Amino acid sequence: MESSLVTSIGKIQLERPVMLASGILGISLDVFNRLYRSGAGAVVSKSLSTEPWDGYPNPTIFGINGGGWINAVGLSNPGAPNFAKMIEPNKDVPIIISLVGSIPEDFSTMVEQFKNSKVIAYELNLSCPHVAKVGLEVGDDPELVKKIVSTVKNSTNVPVIAKVGLGTTHYLNTVSAAIDSGIDAITAINTIRAIAIDVETQRPILSNKFGGLSGTPIKPIALRCVYEISSKYDIPIIGCGGISTWEDAIEFILAGASAIQIGSVIGDNWIHVFNDINKGILQYMKRKGYSKIDEMIGLAKKS
Ligand SMILES: Cc1cc2nc3c(=O)[nH]c(=O)nc-3n(C[C@H](O)[C@H](O)[C@H](O)COP(=O)(O)O)c2cc1C
Repeated sequence: MESSLVTSIGKIQLERPVMLASGILGISLDVFNRLYRSGAGAVVSKSLSTEPWDGYPNPTIFGINGGGWINAVGLSNPGAPNFAKMIEPNKDVPIIISLVGSIPEDFSTMVEQFKNSKVIAYELNLSCPHVAKVGLEVGDDPELVKKIVSTVKNSTNVPVIAKVGLGTTHYLNTVSAAIDSGIDAITAINTIRAIAIDVETQRPILSNKFGGLSGTPIKPIALRCVYEISSKYDIPIIGCGGISTWEDAIEFILAGASAIQIGSVIGDNWIHVFNDINKGILQYMKRKGYSKIDEMIGLAKKS
């Protein structure tokens, strides 16, 4: 029996289910090309704003004992217009553009700037936990989420994904607001607000004090969110958070994800990690007798 890695996230078709998460290496078309040729099903850009942002001063990222990172990069990015020009030559790489902003018009302006670029979806960052007036502060306001999603949906026929995280409003209310306004898919989750303190200086380590926790420590929480969203809503889900092996990827699919994103695991081994996970998923499918990813989505919820 032939097994295939092809998967659909609603209207988005991917050859392979493992994507690059936003903010990780996502700054040049050359890197996107290499990642795609190395097994990524799609690449998500760094979150882009209407203007270039510098981000925070160093230190912006800190590796924690036992694995994982706390980062407060501050969403430094070249701005949507510059990035749109940079990806204009793109022919075949499936690129998802991540957007960050405070008001609906920020997002619709940026979508307009990408109208001549080859983009397979937009991912709205409603969940960055360490920059004021954007990200989680937007995601924590379901009424604002409704307005943003409706505005973006009215501005483009390209599928739109909402990336949610754990803020002060229950994240399922954000998911629900996005679905009410016609969102095509949900990415769950972003980093989780966290802090690290230097015992010698007795001060927080990151210049911004708070940052977002990513990597292995957040995997069970991200998995729980995917399971909860897929139990409550009929919406395609992209799982993200602490995935580093094919077993992790399968867990997210069994919890209800149609595809997954990886970030923190991409270190020195980034060239290999996509294909390692793809190969493991394929071998698992053959061993268990599945021909399509679709047959495995949400199986863990069966009673
Ligand atoms: C250094 C760094 C920068 C990130 N930048 C962004 C970003 O610009 N936009 C976004 O939506 N998520 C961003 N993230 C969050 C990741 O996309 C992902 O949701 C999170 O790291 C959990 O996945 P992981 O455990 O596989 O890293 C960033 C994460 C890291 C570690």
